[in-house]
Amino acid sequence: MIYIAPSLLSADFANLEESINRVTEAGANYLHLDVMDGLFVPNISFGAPIISSIRKKSKLFFDVHLMIKEPIRYIEDFTKAGADIITFHLESCKDPDAVIREIRARDIRCGLAISPATPVEEILPYLPKIQMALVMTVVPGFGGQAFMPNCLEKVRVIRRIAERDNLKLDIEVDGGITEENVGLATAAGANVIVSGSTIFRSKRPKLTIANMQKAAKANPYKG
Ligand code: DX5
Ligand code: ZN
Repeated sequence: MIYIAPSLLSADFANLEESINRVTEAGANYLHLDVMDGLFVPNISFGAPIISSIRKKSKLFFDVHLMIKEPIRYIEDFTKAGADIITFHLESCKDPDAVIREIRARDIRCGLAISPATPVEEILPYLPKIQMALVMTVVPGFGGQAFMPNCLEKVRVIRRIAERDNLKLDIEVDGGITEENVGLATAAGANVIVSGSTIFRSKRPKLTIANMQKAAKANPYKG
């Protein structure tokens, strides 16, 4: 199954409830929530209070993507706010294993992300300890950037290893995903697809998500 995760970063922040309802009715599987601190990335977005407020309005699976320095400080807050999975960046902390332990001590899933500049080898030792690997297909920080196709080789490597080692691992791609390139990502082995500007700027989000699902089905991972 392919999960489509609209990124709220591209929504109208004055009308969050309406924006969320719109993508929910359009067939979104997850809601991708980008938390940025102005330090790990140059942009600032929103934090736990906003997530906690929208949690009361939505039953979607909350896919929280932390782009913050030393995320271990905030795992408790984002868990309480209603995250279903917390994904943090390998590059953002001194002790990734401690963050993984902190997340897995709670009743939520754990994801680990790598930015385009990070070699895939660096995430491999963590794969057996996490439920999702997030391969960034743009430099994190902003919505609406162009997809970097060369990052998909990392998805292929991770999927191959997950299959070889029998790991139950989701692979998420995030950044610049459109109806045109989503098939490249699924063929490489991704099964969770983040899409911000493509879905939120669409006049017909239901059609956009249906087209993404169709493209994904037409381009499955074949090993
Ligand atoms: C970028 C964020 C993404 C972003 C995706 O740092 O992690 O989730 O919102 O937006 P698009 O799909 O517009 O690239
Ligand atoms: Zn994201």
